[in-house]
Amino acid sequence: MKILSIESSCDETAAAVVEEGTRVLSSVVASQVDVHHVYGGVVPELASRKHIEAIVPVVRQALDEAGIAKEELDAVAVTQGPGLVGALLVGFSYAKAYAWGLGIPCVGVNHLEGHMSSIFLGAKGPEFPYVALLVSGGHTSLYYVTGHTDYELMGQTRDDAVGEAYDKVSKMLGLGYPGGVVIDCLAQKGDAKAISFPRPYLDKKAFDFSFSGLKSAVGRHLKENPDPDEKRLCDIAASFQESVAVVLCHKLMYAAKVKGCQHVAVVGGVAANSRVRQLVGEAARNRKLTFHTPELKYCGDNAAMIGAIGYHRFLEGRYLELNDDAYSRARLPSNTKHK
Ligand code: KG4
Ligand code: ZN
Repeated sequence: MKILSIESSCDETAAAVVEEGTRVLSSVVASQVDVHHVYGGVVPELASRKHIEAIVPVVRQALDEAGIAKEELDAVAVTQGPGLVGALLVGFSYAKAYAWGLGIPCVGVNHLEGHMSSIFLGAKGPEFPYVALLVSGGHTSLYYVTGHTDYELMGQTRDDAVGEAYDKVSKMLGLGYPGGVVIDCLAQKGDAKAISFPRPYLDKKAFDFSFSGLKSAVGRHLKENPDPDEKRLCDIAASFQESVAVVLCHKLMYAAKVKGCQHVAVVGGVAANSRVRQLVGEAARNRKLTFHTPELKYCGDNAAMIGAIGYHRFLEGRYLELNDDAYSRARLPSNTKHK
């Protein structure tokens, strides 16, 4: 069963064809980074306009690369929210119309559930239950996962998301937007012990996160030690990254212990981070847990992950009506239970 999936919640226009929620026949991502880079962040109006320009060629390319005709599709899956509503509406309206035209079902999925499902792309993925850390530009949350569409929220950030902290620190350091990859690269050349930034555990037994204090600590350090040279810049990046990675890893491992899980996962844009992957990988090995994280190309926003979760929503028969709307706010995945 083949699903065409579409993602347009932020600054990537993406389309993919995914079979049975796991085999990726194609995955096309048209990034708008160059458009927004000069503004130091995503400009919503520009994002919507760029999605309108890109959506038709991106979908066409996804079908071409999959080597199938649109008549061979069984369903369309699309991100319904959360995200920038003007951006979401482009993919959402297009997907509904496309499915309507072909006479096949269209399923609307939660972007966060997409990230959660990215570990099943081209991989067997973990057995249930497992504990998953979702770290992106907008979210930092820990979930106890008991099924493809069943989650319990264990904790989340009280202020900045990790990716947001990366992007803000990058701005302070004059490294531009988006900041995650740049800081990650510099950090690999720096000394993580050079500066002792705070490790924001809150409480070592709590599952909530807080990154705004750490971000402010970097700001204070820069005020007291302005104009860092290249070496110092790398040390600041490495020290900041170490604080982030150590805290994320600790909370994930503690969550696995509390829940008695044998499997852990890290998903979302920040799952691409080299130090997070390394630390969690080592910690999991030491505890004999299996560690699941997407291939790098499926960490950041993409449509293949929307096809992965879309498949399970399709099996549940959750089809969209033509008058269903996109939602912008961070509504939790629909089956999420609170602790
Ligand atoms: O999942 P994503 O593509 O979009 C959202 O749903 O938010 O995540 C984007 C975030 C950005 O804040 C970006 O700076 C961060 O992921 N990011 C990274 C890395 N690559 C991307 N953060 C740390 N290290 C990386 N290698
Ligand atoms: Zn995302």
